Amino acid sequence: MSLAPVIAIDGPSASGKGTVAERVARRLGYRFLDSGSLYRLTALAGMQSGVDLSDAARLADLALVLPVVFSDGQIYLDGVDVSDAIRREDVSRGASCVAALPAVRGALLERQRAFRAPPGLVADGRDMGTVVFPDALVKIFLTASAQARAERRYTQLIAKGFSANLSALLQDLQERDARDSMRAVAPLQRAADAYLVDTTLLSIEQSVAAVMDIVKLRLPQAGDAPAPQ
Ligand code: DC
Repeated sequence: MSLAPVIAIDGPSASGKGTVAERVARRLGYRFLDSGSLYRLTALAGMQSGVDLSDAARLADLALVLPVVFSDGQIYLDGVDVSDAIRREDVSRGASCVAALPAVRGALLERQRAFRAPPGLVADGRDMGTVVFPDALVKIFLTASAQARAERRYTQLIAKGFSANLSALLQDLQERDARDSMRAVAPLQRAADAYLVDTTLLSIEQSVAAVMDIVKLRLPQAGDAPAPQ
């Protein structure tokens, strides 16, 4: 039996890949995996149980049994809605630390692969096309200049009523890029067979259209799924 097709979308922080991947999944009627949320959930679970974020063995044990439910765009950990909590700055930093631990990555591997089911999956992260789904039907590396990504994050924060400093955001993004790209295990890397989509000058909808054009090359029958009734 052939496995359901996977569209792997990898790229750096704030490249817009989460939003783009989710919209592409909706258009195709596919499932969606935000793999970064699993690293964020592991960090949050560790912080809540007082586990040191360098204790690879205990974090891997937590990651294996994370009581997570994804439902209607919300994320529940042990029955509590943590959709906002996992986006906090301290959890983002924690996620980047736990994501560098090979034992945690190993513990999350099968959980990620379990999302693959008919009619197909759109998976977003850093190593979807290189490690988790090396046989993905379509691989996309979605990026944008660090300046453009920092400006997008700045606009989002201001729109939510938070204060923000553009140069601090830019520095933070560059540090996170370096950590994600230089770690020894599953670094952020463009797969040799991934299409590069640079969204520096594109809106979200233009980015979605660019990805859909690539998907249609590999899946000519892929049209837009009918809108839900
Ligand atoms: O995509 P994100 O910002 O939600 O990811 C949170 C952290 O997890 C980030 O530091 C990168 C890491 N991550 C990873 O190492 N591998 C993935 N497949 C997804 C995210």
